[in-house]
Amino acid sequence: MTAVKTVVVTGATRGIGKAIADRLGHAGWRVIGTYRREPRERGRSSPGGGAISRVPMPAFVRMDLGSDTSIAVATRAIAALAGRLDAIVNNAGTTDDGAFLAMEDGRVAALLQANLFGTIRLTESLLPLLRSRPDASIVNIASLAGVAGKEGQVPYAASKGGVIGFTKLLARRTRGTGVRANAVAPGFIATEMTRTLDDDMVRHIVHGTSLRRIGEPADVADAVMFLLGARYVNGTTIKVDGGFKR
Ligand SMILES: NC(=O)c1ccc[n+]([C@@H]2O[C@H](COP(=O)([O-])OP(=O)(O)OC[C@H]3O[C@@H](n4cnc5c(N)ncnc54)[C@H](OP(=O)(O)O)[C@@H]3O)[C@@H](O)[C@H]2O)c1
Repeated sequence: MTAVKTVVVTGATRGIGKAIADRLGHAGWRVIGTYRREPRERGRSSPGGGAISRVPMPAFVRMDLGSDTSIAVATRAIAALAGRLDAIVNNAGTTDDGAFLAMEDGRVAALLQANLFGTIRLTESLLPLLRSRPDASIVNIASLAGVAGKEGQVPYAASKGGVIGFTKLLARRTRGTGVRANAVAPGFIATEMTRTLDDDMVRHIVHGTSLRRIGEPADVADAVMFLLGARYVNGTTIKVDGGFKR
């Protein structure tokens, strides 16, 4: 009998993170999800939104990437819940678009703190829980903006480019840790993060995408599942963008 594997999925309350957590739950993983806002702040009755059916409900731990204290508290909670981990999926992230020079420093700092520094701090904090597992793996959710750049998203693109650089660094440590690390760079995926884009922009994106549709959270989950099981893949970034060319 194979042992149940345990994975932390950050930002598992909705969107891409929820799709990843659901898929892992279906596949028999024990999922520890993180959430930032309390359910009532999101207008929902439970961290998972009560929308999961026939899928084992993840255990949830509160964690705000914007707070070093919150990351430390969450790390202790995860250690107490899980003991050891087989995988981490760093999915949680946020965006704040606009002309860079018009953005206050605080906005830029908050974005970099959450997407980049918080992700690094959490990962470094959780690494000791992963070390003794030979097939352990980290998957970081970056962005096409971090691979190709995107006008109007200077701090976001920089944060996601940083996540890809951090992934490569983690991959180089494999010899010492036994932990593989890879990234997924989604293009346009239909979630709350992208729901404010106007119809013209969506048409523009679909037109520039060879598969002629926008992505779904499940499309990103496909790539995460592949990377978690791909034992000879290390330090790579998979674009999940439907063949977006612009
Ligand atoms: N959607 C896209 O087109 C797209 C494209 C490329 C990359 N991505 C990346 O994919 C990931 C998931 O995005 P999504 O589209 O699913 O976004 P989403 O629907 O806005 O969900 C974001 C998730 O991240 C959590 N989160 C946000 N800020 C956080 C913080 N400071 N600390 C802890 N958790 C935080 C949220 O928690 P709460 O619910 O508790 O607030 C939520 O679970 C992000 O890293 C995003 O940058 C998305």
